[in-house]
Amino acid sequence: LAAGPLSGQHILVTSGPTHEPIDPVRYIANRSSGAQGSAIARALVALGARVTFVTGPAQVPPPDGVQVVRVQTARQMQEAVTQALPADAAVFAAAVADWRVAREVTSKIKKDAAGTLPVLEFTENPDILAEVAQMGAGRPALVVGFAAETDDVVAHARAKLARKGCDWIVANDVRPETGIMGGDENAVTVLSAEGADSWPRMSKDAVARKLAARIAQALST
Ligand code: C5P
Repeated sequence: LAAGPLSGQHILVTSGPTHEPIDPVRYIANRSSGAQGSAIARALVALGARVTFVTGPAQVPPPDGVQVVRVQTARQMQEAVTQALPADAAVFAAAVADWRVAREVTSKIKKDAAGTLPVLEFTENPDILAEVAQMGAGRPALVVGFAAETDDVVAHARAKLARKGCDWIVANDVRPETGIMGGDENAVTVLSAEGADSWPRMSKDAVARKLAARIAQALST
């Protein structure tokens, strides 16, 4: 481990999308590449942190120097996060599916001759960030969530900060025309009880370094 301002600190990072099975061959996913989560984990390692990196099936490989835990579904991610605690800080960069298919189907759904269309019923996934943010004893000192929004970004993120009970929300605009989801750049606003801090558009690596530095500062005070 590198020596640095985060030496001796254990930080949990979630990253990537989750895949929620429909049947044995199909799943529901989202466009998260895992790029921002990987970059954050790398930046935390560079500052000396011990990082547990819980990742869904991402496009981008995990950084060197982290303990990687690979999962597919939200419920597996919840389990891995529980196993990884305690941590001094937790950064929830994963794009967790909000819903999963209610009934697990163990054989492939077939087309039927009459052309009857399948109907999927959904159920809510556990909100991993909210659970950790509100866990009481054993809660990481700093809990950071993300808010990927397509409209009224800061207003929605402000509401999310309160609802989830986390310390910071890193809000970003994921409208397709921004090219942020799946791209190399990000433009974020960091919201906390102290206020809103909008950073100019920069590389996801630069966002990660700036966020890691802010985390180091918060844990040292
Ligand atoms: O509610 P929403 O999905 O917009 O919240 C986004 C934030 O919450 C992200 O930090 C994400 O990692 C986290 N989250 C989670 N578990 C869920 C849904 C979101 O940890 N089931």
